[in-house]
Amino acid sequence: MSDPLRAPMPGAESLTDHLRDRWSVSVFEPTHTLDDTEIELLLRAAQWAPSAGNGQPWGYLVAPRGSATHDVLLAHLSRGNSGWVPRASAVFITVAQTAPDPDGNGPKWPTYSYYDLGQSAAHLTIQAAAMGLAAHQFAGFDHAAVGEALGVPEWWQVMTGIAVGVHGDPASVDPVDAEREQRERIRKPLTEIAYAGGWGQPWRR
Ligand SMILES: Cc1cc2nc3c(=O)[nH]c(=O)nc-3n(C[C@H](O)[C@H](O)[C@H](O)COP(=O)(O)O)c2cc1C
Repeated sequence: MSDPLRAPMPGAESLTDHLRDRWSVSVFEPTHTLDDTEIELLLRAAQWAPSAGNGQPWGYLVAPRGSATHDVLLAHLSRGNSGWVPRASAVFITVAQTAPDPDGNGPKWPTYSYYDLGQSAAHLTIQAAAMGLAAHQFAGFDHAAVGEALGVPEWWQVMTGIAVGVHGDPASVDPVDAEREQRERIRKPLTEIAYAGGWGQPWRR
């Protein structure tokens, strides 16, 4: 997705298109819907992510706008997310298995459950970009209430929502939500995240 409304990403110019063009849209077009073929493709991207020991400790609750699952989520959004999330075409609620079930079945290496779910979610968001869709992940909702209402077992942990849809008209929403996506996009410099020779010694090309 290429969107001229979005702020520049210094240093990202040469990334592969779908990484370069990804950003967290906060103004979704509220009439757009995702069909089941599109939803399945997004889930396939998540499904085919790598994971520790191929444990695949991830789960997704699919909540198209207007569905009962969507209604549950909307009732428990944080104030900051209650303006923009409802307009997205669908939300994928992400869940990680962090402990064995009562029969002892669970992730081989629970230490990596969050890592694996995050990677699976990232694959979903990049697939969304490749499909001309926008995705915005969010943690601001009552995880316990959503998990309970949707019957998530206690050995699974509700983590985030991924709102997916297409970009809408910023002039059609509350200025607070329109402003949210105009904020400067900031990243730490490589010297603060990439080291060589020892921790704290910046990698240099
Ligand atoms: C785990 C996680 C939780 C997030 N929670 C929220 C949230 O509750 N509300 C929100 O508006 N954005 C949320 N975001 C989006 C981030 O703020 C956003 O990814 C970050 O500012 C970088 O912007 P970009 O995605 O456009 O590059 C979350 C992102 C992640 C990965």
